[in-house]
Amino acid sequence: MKPREMKKDIYCVGAIDWDRRLFDSLIPLPDGTSYNSYLIRGSNKTALIDTVNPPMKDVLLNNLDQLGVSHIDYVIFNHAEPDHSGSIREVLAKYPEAKAIATPKCKGMLIDRFMVAEEKFKTVEDKETLALGGRTLEFIHAPWVHWPETMLTYLREDRILFPCDFFGSHLAITDMYVRDAGQEYEAAKRYYAEIMMPFQAQIQKNLEKIKDYAIDIIAPSHGPMHDKPQFILKAYHSWVYDEPGNIVVLPYISMHGSTRKMVAYLVETLSRRGVTVKQFDLAVTDIGKLAMALVDAATIVIGTPTVLTGPHPNVAYAAFLTNALKPKAKFATVIGSYGWGGKAVEQIAAMIPNLKAEILPPVITKGFPREADFQALDNLADTITSKHKGAGLT
Ligand code: FEO
Repeated sequence: MKPREMKKDIYCVGAIDWDRRLFDSLIPLPDGTSYNSYLIRGSNKTALIDTVNPPMKDVLLNNLDQLGVSHIDYVIFNHAEPDHSGSIREVLAKYPEAKAIATPKCKGMLIDRFMVAEEKFKTVEDKETLALGGRTLEFIHAPWVHWPETMLTYLREDRILFPCDFFGSHLAITDMYVRDAGQEYEAAKRYYAEIMMPFQAQIQKNLEKIKDYAIDIIAPSHGPMHDKPQFILKAYHSWVYDEPGNIVVLPYISMHGSTRKMVAYLVETLSRRGVTVKQFDLAVTDIGKLAMALVDAATIVIGTPTVLTGPHPNVAYAAFLTNALKPKAKFATVIGSYGWGGKAVEQIAAMIPNLKAEILPPVITKGFPREADFQALDNLADTITSKHKGAGLT
């Protein structure tokens, strides 16, 4: 994508990665992504905010050429992760006069990862400002969105917040601003669930920190920009602060049909009691969809057969991931089956210490489920329904 003018002397100069389908060898990208970089010209100084993922560095450098940028005074590194900072060496080589601006922690991480000379840096403290001439950058330290070194950059006169990953979405799209709110909500929620949810307490602090800033535009470093910033601010408030809904998330695997039969029965039973259930077959599911569902779920029911005395490896992976994402679920349990013995329930319970959830009695059947097992699932559905009611979630 060629440079695009946001306002006079403010340009988007980053890259759209239409075809990328996996991030960090972990996160599915069904809609690609973008690495947004912004050029700001003041009357005296020129600043570049964030760079791009290294394989797309030529897009950024060509865009700067197309704008006739022969001199950059400051390259702002809001975040040290390589999708935004990975072109640091090439940008500083092309503009050797530029100072790299970063928090002290970010400076250290950039030196560690990219072996940039220490004298290239100028570190900035929280709320420190930098004058460009008629335009002022203010740096807001915002640790743990989602690394410890992160900061946001606020352009005062234009009331634009450049928050890097915060409020971003993995979405390759030609629209400069959000125009399809439904599409953006889904992409931003997926992004929040995968990247930000483990840091919910810190996200709250950082939302509080920016609440008094006048913001006309939020310009993140992934996905389209927000010219109606209340849309994404309200969404974040809801994901971070709201109680979970009357929702059960049920990730499961079935090998020979016993666990699948139990899952189908429990889903039906809960649904008849007015509980929303989101069922995920871990053999085929997009883990981003599972992560999104975890944002709002009050209860997590994990379904597994027993394999080599423990849970199915895909279930172990999902349990490990769920523990790492730290969703706000209040209740959790396990259903499943075994042939001759095993410790699947104990092993799953040991994998989810981060969940602040009450563990409900599991339902485990030997072989194919029978009448007593269905009765136990009815009882579990009753327990979940009454726990949700007791917590005021219906
Ligand atoms: Fe988009 Fe944390 O990097």
